[in-house]
Amino acid sequence: MPLNPLPKPFAIPLTVVSSGKPGQNQPAVTNQASSSIDYAYLRALVFQQSQNVLDPSRDYLFETRLAKLLRNEGLTRLEELVQILKLKRSPILERAVAEAMTINETSFFRDSRPFELLRAELMPTLIESRRLIRTLRVWSAACSTGQEAYSIGMLLLEHFPLLATWNLKIEGTDICNEVVQRCQSATYHRIEMNRGLPARNIVRFFDHHGEDWTAKPELRALCNFRQANLCGSVLPFASRFDVIFLRNVMLYFSQETRKQLLANIHRLLAPDGILFLGSSEQPADPTIWTSHLAGGTCYFRPRQPS
Ligand SMILES: C[S@@+](CC[C@H](N)C(=O)[O-])C[C@H]1O[C@@H](n2cnc3c(N)ncnc32)[C@H](O)[C@@H]1O
Repeated sequence: MPLNPLPKPFAIPLTVVSSGKPGQNQPAVTNQASSSIDYAYLRALVFQQSQNVLDPSRDYLFETRLAKLLRNEGLTRLEELVQILKLKRSPILERAVAEAMTINETSFFRDSRPFELLRAELMPTLIESRRLIRTLRVWSAACSTGQEAYSIGMLLLEHFPLLATWNLKIEGTDICNEVVQRCQSATYHRIEMNRGLPARNIVRFFDHHGEDWTAKPELRALCNFRQANLCGSVLPFASRFDVIFLRNVMLYFSQETRKQLLANIHRLLAPDGILFLGSSEQPADPTIWTSHLAGGTCYFRPRQPS
């Protein structure tokens, strides 16, 4: 059964190749180039599941990233997995392939400038404007293993102690179930702790056992994590956020997906709310966003109707 519907750029091409044998140089029709692995099918599947656009020049990544899945399925060759995917059309297996292909690179206080700007300028203003409702909601969208959400939590607990009596929540979401489970465990290896986390934060917010460190209840209580696809038909929340971190994920999406996602994000941000993107990312549609340069970084606010 074909993978259906396939987006146009991913329609699986049929290629004419030579058999390479002397005297038998007849064209043979195969799937995609000369490899017996149907990478185009895998790329299309990943796009369909997560809207991540994978470049053919990086097809070699399928071998390494899907190695664990192959083992779990009792398979030895990627070709076998592709055959099974085509035959079974199992939603669980298709999702597992897409999740295995996500890039989960992250660290505590990654690109420190947005955090510093929040602390020094943006958060005091937000807190002042919400002093009567005493509610603050932050979303770490595409949070990977949770360091971004916990960094925001540490920043708020350390610098804004009055929030302890507020209704304060940091929501973290990611499409990949495995990383969401890591977020929920709140446990990080020494090497992850050494990437960007000041010693004073380690001492105050983490407990130590062997090579691992687990966030203390005070920090964990602020953060909720769940699996969610940013490109599903609806976003996973109904009520608005005051701050949204949507960093280092849009670069994996097509222009069309980015535009749609940012329109949805716009609806979920308070009128005076703040959006942070990754340092190389821009909102696709300046008609609904204003950009602001401060503290050596850029943030975005919903454009108000004039
Ligand atoms: C490079 S990490 C960024 C983590 C964090 N935001 C940061 O900047 O450090 C990108 C994350 O986006 C997630 N992701 C990719 N496609 C997604 C989608 N369609 N919906 C939700 N999360 C997605 C991946 O699983 C991965 O954990």
